[in-house]
Amino acid sequence: MDKVTDVLNIEQQIEELSRYEGKALALDIYIGSQAVATSGSTISEALISKLRRTDPERVRFSKGGGQLCLPDKDIEQAIRANIIPFRAELALEAGVQEDLSQEVRGMATRKVRQLFESSRFLSKVDLNAAADVASDLIRRAQSLESTAFKLHDLRSYDDYTYFHSVNVCVLGIALFRNYTDSEQQLLDLGISLLLHDIGKSRVPLEILNKPGPLSEQEFDQMRKHVRYGVELLDGSLDVPKLCLEVVLNHHERVNGTGYLRQLRENELSLFDMLASICDVFDAVTTDRCYRSKMDFHRAVSILIRGSGTHFNNKLVNHFLQGIGRFPVGTFVLLSNREIGVVSRVNSEALSLPEISVIFDGWGNRLEQPRRLDLHADASGIYIDRPLDTSPLIGISAKNETDLKH
Ligand SMILES: [Fe+2]
Ligand SMILES: [Fe+2]
Repeated sequence: MDKVTDVLNIEQQIEELSRYEGKALALDIYIGSQAVATSGSTISEALISKLRRTDPERVRFSKGGGQLCLPDKDIEQAIRANIIPFRAELALEAGVQEDLSQEVRGMATRKVRQLFESSRFLSKVDLNAAADVASDLIRRAQSLESTAFKLHDLRSYDDYTYFHSVNVCVLGIALFRNYTDSEQQLLDLGISLLLHDIGKSRVPLEILNKPGPLSEQEFDQMRKHVRYGVELLDGSLDVPKLCLEVVLNHHERVNGTGYLRQLRENELSLFDMLASICDVFDAVTTDRCYRSKMDFHRAVSILIRGSGTHFNNKLVNHFLQGIGRFPVGTFVLLSNREIGVVSRVNSEALSLPEISVIFDGWGNRLEQPRRLDLHADASGIYIDRPLDTSPLIGISAKNETDLKH
């Protein structure tokens, strides 16, 4: 840029700034090498007249991502009120794909409910029906990097176990897909994840759906679901070994603090450990009758904290590579005060995903969402913070062991 254009730009910026008197500055302003106003300070009349009196060649604005002032706090709150309730619709309009459509998820959940209910009466599991559901999900579930996991999250508490079984299956398939070339192994894993909690069909419903923490005695009953699951599967023909193991071991932890047998990492299979990660992640990000769901970031931090102690380190890393620090579908406030939704994870730069920008820095909806790849973009814009954190009510789980599942 030549000097004349530069001076004109500075003069224009000063005039632009005068429109925002009283608001908070979004960048730093220097005269020579001295900062005369910093980001967050109020844009005052005195500042503007001082800048107007100064030789424009000596005035310099730091990069503020294109914005001169920060939005008012109440604007931000209004945006949140306009985003959170409509996040699924906004995200889909912005081109963010869901991992499964509502219909497919609903259909799979109904079939899993039938599986659970018939196992209650017949004392065995219809493995063919489970294989049908699993292979359908394998066909439809995509990779984690490009699809939003559970964008819609409307579920009734009584259905929790069935929804959870479908979610854990989809998550595990998406995660494991590039670990194997064997279709049979992928199918066996899909069946195992779909049925990992099948033993809960023998746990009394009052305990399963209890709206509050379990007593020690009730928790003991709950723990038995892994044993019940194996008993139910043993009565069925041709059960894959992998399936029996996942059902029995999905609550084991790599340091031997899980249940039922306190196995350690060297006694657990890759599938057992993969199931435990998907199981915890889904449980944490789901509304339950005794607590509201935690957001993805807390779920991710539970996995990171438990990596190497509760969960296999390599698998946690692989999981995070896929889902990113900001999973697809997360609404974020950018450093230039624009708001958008994560549309794709960059596996080489987990904090710099691709964004579909929906609102400008003043909270106005853009006519067309704008694609912004934070990793490829040279403007230095970054994610200030995620916006879709749900408030915690009731019991909040500080770590994985606080969770009842
Ligand atoms: Fe379980
Ligand atoms: Fe589970």
